[in-house]
Amino acid sequence: MRAFLTRPHARWRIALEMLVLGFVLAIVCGALVIYAGAYDVAATRHHWPLTEWVLDTARIRSIKTHAAGITAPPGLDDQAKILMGTEHFADHCAICHGAPGVPKGDIAHGLYPQPPDLAVTSKRYTDTELFWIVKHGIKMTGMPGWADHGDDELWATVAFLKKLPGMTPEEYGKLVMQVMSHGGQQHPQDRATIGQGHEHDGTAPPSAVQPGSPKDHSMSGMGQGTPAKRD
Ligand code: HEC
Repeated sequence: MRAFLTRPHARWRIALEMLVLGFVLAIVCGALVIYAGAYDVAATRHHWPLTEWVLDTARIRSIKTHAAGITAPPGLDDQAKILMGTEHFADHCAICHGAPGVPKGDIAHGLYPQPPDLAVTSKRYTDTELFWIVKHGIKMTGMPGWADHGDDELWATVAFLKKLPGMTPEEYGKLVMQVMSHGGQQHPQDRATIGQGHEHDGTAPPSAVQPGSPKDHSMSGMGQGTPAKRD
């Protein structure tokens, strides 16, 4: 009777010991790989499909969870908000993500992961998720957080992103021209630099866009202000 009771118990103990040993071995091997410099951090070497799946899933779940407590303000369809968002997008985002009729800048080409075309992928997110992404950025990618910009400006950028899917280069150009004709009054701090190049951040001004001429050279240069200066 006694032997009958202790044997399964001993088996559990061995199984537990093996598990702990396996865990310790995994940590030791992981530490060895890291200290030996065997993990390749090169942006030119892409992730394994499994790593990609883990990172994608972690990103999507994290964004959903962290955006859950946010409430979107009313009026995201207001033209004034969309114009304010257009200005912010043209100044800070088009360089990496491109815009209708505007290719990504050189700086975006070597990034891994690549900045996606937001006209396609922003549809996958709710307004509050977009706000969270733009405010906080995405760790270990080139996506910066813009928490130092006011929430008002970031919600305006969300208002613009909602209009982006299906937007033609002509429509984008028109929006940019409207921003120009308002003299960038949505952001007094930016007004002085509109049309003269944003020296403080190196991005090209929205004035580089000519509405109705998507193939116009000046338009395609819009997202490329920084690399052009670096060359
Ligand atoms: C320096 C380059 C860079 C700039 C500038 C930049 N982004 Fe990004 N952005 C990225 C990269 C890279 C990713 C992809 C991250 C990933 O795959 O996890 C990204 C992802 C995103 C996503 C998530 C899209 C998706 O498919 O999951 C949104 C939304 C976004 N950016 C919006 C913006 C907005 C709005 C701005 C401007 C305020 C901006 N980004 C500026 C590089 C940039």
